[in-house]
Amino acid sequence: MTTPRAPADACSLLDADHRAVKKLFKEFEPLAESKAKTAPAKRRQLADQICLELSVHAQIEEEIFYPALRAAAKAEDLLDEAEVEHASAKDLIAQIRDGDENDSKWCAKVIVLGEYIDHHVKEERNEIFVKARAARNLDLVAMRHELQARKEELMSEMAVAA
Ligand SMILES: [Fe+2]
Ligand SMILES: [Fe+2]
Repeated sequence: MTTPRAPADACSLLDADHRAVKKLFKEFEPLAESKAKTAPAKRRQLADQICLELSVHAQIEEEIFYPALRAAAKAEDLLDEAEVEHASAKDLIAQIRDGDENDSKWCAKVIVLGEYIDHHVKEERNEIFVKARAARNLDLVAMRHELQARKEELMSEMAVAA
Protein backbone atom coordinates (compact mmCIF):
# COMPACT_ATOMS: atom_id res chain seq x y z
CA MET A 1 0.00 0.00 0.00
CA THR A 2 1.33 3.41 -0.85
CA THR A 3 0.46 6.50 1.08
CA PRO A 4 0.30 9.72 -0.88
CA ARG A 5 3.30 11.90 -0.13
CA ALA A 6 2.65 15.34 1.23
CA PRO A 7 3.82 17.99 -1.23
CA ALA A 8 7.04 19.80 -0.35
CA ASP A 9 5.32 23.00 0.69
CA ALA A 10 5.13 25.32 3.69
CA CYS A 11 2.87 22.90 5.58
CA SER A 12 5.16 19.90 5.17
CA LEU A 13 8.12 21.97 6.35
CA LEU A 14 6.19 23.03 9.45
CA ASP A 15 5.01 19.48 10.04
CA ALA A 16 8.58 18.17 9.84
CA ASP A 17 9.35 20.58 12.71
CA HIS A 18 6.37 19.17 14.61
CA ARG A 19 7.67 15.63 14.22
CA ALA A 20 11.21 16.58 15.20
CA VAL A 21 10.11 18.24 18.40
CA LYS A 22 7.76 15.35 19.24
CA LYS A 23 10.80 13.07 19.10
CA LEU A 24 12.64 15.31 21.58
CA PHE A 25 9.69 15.24 23.97
CA LYS A 26 9.69 11.41 23.73
CA GLU A 27 13.39 11.36 24.61
CA PHE A 28 12.65 13.56 27.58
CA GLU A 29 10.09 11.21 29.18
CA PRO A 30 12.47 8.54 30.57
CA LEU A 31 14.88 11.26 31.69
CA ALA A 32 12.15 12.89 33.77
CA GLU A 33 11.97 9.76 35.94
CA SER A 34 15.65 8.89 35.87
CA LYS A 35 17.57 9.02 39.13
CA ALA A 36 20.92 8.85 37.32
CA LYS A 37 23.48 11.46 38.30
CA THR A 38 23.77 12.64 34.73
CA ALA A 39 19.99 12.96 34.26
CA PRO A 40 19.56 16.62 35.30
CA ALA A 41 22.22 17.84 32.85
CA LYS A 42 20.69 15.76 30.07
CA ARG A 43 17.23 17.06 30.93
CA ARG A 44 18.51 20.62 30.77
CA GLN A 45 20.21 20.10 27.43
CA LEU A 46 17.15 18.47 25.88
CA ALA A 47 14.74 21.05 27.31
CA ASP A 48 16.90 23.89 25.99
CA GLN A 49 16.84 22.33 22.54
CA ILE A 50 13.05 21.88 22.71
CA CYS A 51 12.63 25.52 23.78
CA LEU A 52 14.89 26.78 20.99
CA GLU A 53 13.20 24.75 18.28
CA LEU A 54 9.70 25.65 19.43
CA SER A 55 10.54 29.35 19.70
CA VAL A 56 11.92 29.48 16.18
CA HIS A 57 8.98 27.45 14.86
CA ALA A 58 6.40 29.69 16.55
CA GLN A 59 8.09 32.79 15.23
CA ILE A 60 8.18 31.70 11.59
CA GLU A 61 4.52 30.75 11.81
CA GLU A 62 3.63 34.10 13.37
CA GLU A 63 5.74 36.16 10.99
CA ILE A 64 5.04 34.38 7.72
CA PHE A 65 2.51 31.53 7.71
CA TYR A 66 -0.33 32.81 9.89
CA PRO A 67 -0.55 36.34 8.37
CA ALA A 68 -0.52 34.96 4.82
CA LEU A 69 -3.27 32.49 5.69
CA ARG A 70 -5.29 35.21 7.41
CA ALA A 71 -5.17 37.23 4.21
CA ALA A 72 -5.92 34.32 1.88
CA ALA A 73 -8.62 32.28 3.64
CA LYS A 74 -11.40 32.50 6.17
CA ALA A 75 -9.50 31.16 9.13
CA GLU A 76 -9.78 33.99 11.64
CA ASP A 77 -11.10 31.89 14.54
CA LEU A 78 -8.61 29.09 14.05
CA LEU A 79 -5.70 31.50 13.82
CA ASP A 80 -6.85 33.50 16.84
CA GLU A 81 -6.88 30.26 18.85
CA ALA A 82 -3.51 29.23 17.47
CA GLU A 83 -1.97 32.55 18.48
CA VAL A 84 -3.40 32.30 21.99
CA GLU A 85 -1.92 28.80 22.23
CA HIS A 86 1.45 30.13 21.11
CA ALA A 87 1.33 32.75 23.85
CA SER A 88 0.64 30.12 26.52
CA ALA A 89 3.39 27.87 25.16
CA LYS A 90 5.85 30.78 25.27
CA ASP A 91 4.93 31.40 28.87
CA LEU A 92 5.76 27.78 29.77
CA ILE A 93 8.95 27.97 27.69
CA ALA A 94 10.08 31.02 29.68
CA GLN A 95 9.39 29.18 32.95
CA ILE A 96 11.36 26.15 31.75
CA ARG A 97 14.30 28.28 30.64
CA ASP A 98 14.44 30.08 33.98
CA GLY A 99 13.60 27.05 36.11
CA ASP A 100 15.67 24.44 37.95
CA GLU A 101 16.10 21.07 36.20
CA ASN A 102 16.53 19.36 39.60
CA ASP A 103 13.03 20.28 40.62
CA SER A 104 10.28 17.72 39.91
CA LYS A 105 7.83 20.54 39.11
CA TRP A 106 10.21 21.64 36.37
CA CYS A 107 9.98 18.21 34.71
CA ALA A 108 6.20 18.42 34.92
CA LYS A 109 6.36 21.71 33.03
CA VAL A 110 8.29 20.11 30.18
CA ILE A 111 5.84 17.18 30.04
CA VAL A 112 2.85 19.52 30.05
CA LEU A 113 4.43 21.64 27.32
CA GLY A 114 4.71 18.44 25.23
CA GLU A 115 1.03 17.63 25.75
CA TYR A 116 0.08 21.16 24.95
CA ILE A 117 2.11 21.18 21.75
CA ASP A 118 0.54 17.84 20.77
CA HIS A 119 -2.88 19.41 20.95
CA HIS A 120 -1.78 22.50 19.03
CA VAL A 121 -0.12 20.42 16.31
CA LYS A 122 -3.29 18.36 15.81
CA GLU A 123 -5.24 21.53 15.12
CA GLU A 124 -2.64 22.77 12.68
CA ARG A 125 -2.44 19.45 10.88
CA ASN A 126 -6.17 18.71 10.76
CA GLU A 127 -7.60 22.18 10.30
CA ILE A 128 -5.14 24.96 9.57
CA PHE A 129 -3.00 23.11 7.00
CA VAL A 130 -6.14 21.84 5.30
CA LYS A 131 -7.41 25.42 4.91
CA ALA A 132 -4.01 26.62 3.71
CA ARG A 133 -3.78 23.91 1.05
CA ALA A 134 -7.31 24.67 -0.11
CA ALA A 135 -6.62 28.42 -0.46
CA ARG A 136 -6.14 29.15 -4.15
CA ASN A 137 -4.23 32.39 -3.83
CA LEU A 138 -1.56 31.08 -1.50
CA ASP A 139 1.77 29.93 -2.96
CA LEU A 140 2.80 27.40 -0.33
CA VAL A 141 5.77 26.17 -2.33
CA ALA A 142 7.32 29.65 -2.48
CA MET A 143 6.44 30.12 1.18
CA ARG A 144 8.38 26.98 2.08
CA HIS A 145 11.60 28.69 0.91
CA GLU A 146 10.76 31.83 2.82
CA LEU A 147 10.10 29.82 6.00
CA GLN A 148 13.29 27.82 5.56
CA ALA A 149 15.44 30.94 5.11
CA ARG A 150 13.91 32.69 8.12
CA LYS A 151 14.24 29.54 10.19
CA GLU A 152 17.97 29.31 9.50
CA GLU A 153 18.42 32.98 10.34
CA LEU A 154 16.51 32.71 13.64
CA MET A 155 18.22 29.44 14.60
CA SER A 156 21.62 31.04 14.49
CA GLU A 157 20.43 34.24 16.21
CA MET A 158 18.62 32.44 19.02
CA ALA A 159 21.29 29.78 19.50
CA VAL A 160 23.79 32.57 20.16
CA ALA A 161 21.40 34.38 22.52
CA ALA A 162 20.50 31.22 24.50
FE1 LIG B 1 3.27 24.53 14.16
FE1 LIG C 1 1.65 26.88 15.75
